[in-house]
Amino acid sequence: MHHVLVVGGCGFIGSHIVDSLLAQGHRVRVLDMRPEAFRPPLPGVDYVIGSFASEATLHEALQGVDAVVHTASITVPSTSNADPVADIQGNLVATVRMLRVMRQAGVRKLVFLSSGGTVYGIPTAEVVDESHPLAPISSYGIVKVAIEQYLHMEHRLHGLDYIALRLANPYGPRQGYNGIQGIIGNFLWKIAFGEPIEVWGDGSVVRDFIHVHDFAELCALAVKAPIIGCFNAGSGQGASVNEIVQAASQVANCRVRPIYKPGRSFDVPRVILDISRIKQAIGWAPRIPLIEGMRQSWDWIQEHQAIDNIA
Ligand SMILES: NC(=O)c1ccc[n+]([C@@H]2O[C@H](COP(=O)([O-])OP(=O)(O)OC[C@H]3O[C@@H](n4cnc5c(N)ncnc54)[C@H](O)[C@@H]3O)[C@@H](O)[C@H]2O)c1
Repeated sequence: MHHVLVVGGCGFIGSHIVDSLLAQGHRVRVLDMRPEAFRPPLPGVDYVIGSFASEATLHEALQGVDAVVHTASITVPSTSNADPVADIQGNLVATVRMLRVMRQAGVRKLVFLSSGGTVYGIPTAEVVDESHPLAPISSYGIVKVAIEQYLHMEHRLHGLDYIALRLANPYGPRQGYNGIQGIIGNFLWKIAFGEPIEVWGDGSVVRDFIHVHDFAELCALAVKAPIIGCFNAGSGQGASVNEIVQAASQVANCRVRPIYKPGRSFDVPRVILDISRIKQAIGWAPRIPLIEGMRQSWDWIQEHQAIDNIA
């Protein structure tokens, strides 16, 4: 059993990682700036409310901990280019500072949530493996790559055991309404509220969608896995935005007619991740098929539609 600090553990993905860590028998502390949007605090979990950018808060949160899962981010791809300096300060500088505080506290294991959709830039391969060149076209992706490089440096110089998971496009219960990252949640919430769906571009953009339960299970396994480095984490399969629209119509049992808008410059046309490396290293594989996962999201939205505090 490990005592794990989940930084950003009240967010969409972080909250599922907390569940998986508890299910795998770990002790969990969460550091986040705010409580979870959809659930009360969990019994048995220790919550520290504050920022991981604060050294004092980190010292408190790291006490007695032997591993960290770092899920916090102050930006998403679509917001990061508006203020790259804030992106660098809030994500890169704060993470590099956290590495120093972890070293001082003797915490030598870190699982970091990187981004398979942005670190490679515009892929030159049908299916992208970890050896593909890193050429991000958003500040968000550049910062993720820079953090991965600092993790490598910290490993070489100070023995940090790190796993950077280059996450594809997660979806599932607790994905918030605002939808600035995550089209499946965004589309399903909009359908539930009777609002129109907007598609950037012609809907041919292809992404690799992974159910958040599958990814959270991987993170919890990664905490105790004796491996180091950067690993893709997706389903290994692609679906176009138009296919997601169709699947959304199917699970919501209604006809959806999206509004097509001009494409966005930071959206890469196609990313499907090769996940052989992590499968082989950890013996993990995603299990939830897309349509079944979307049905779970839809059912969850039906149960939570009335909640005022939609993230
Ligand atoms: N959602 C996606 O599509 C996606 C895809 C690839 C990678 N990622 C990465 O996964 C991670 C989690 O994403 P998510 O979708 O769960 O985001 P989220 O916004 O739902 O969760 C992030 C959490 O971090 C917290 N946080 C932000 N800044 C903080 C700070 N300074 N100190 C403490 N807590 C802070 C937020 O309050 C929030 O609860 C991020 O690193 C993101 O870049 C997400």
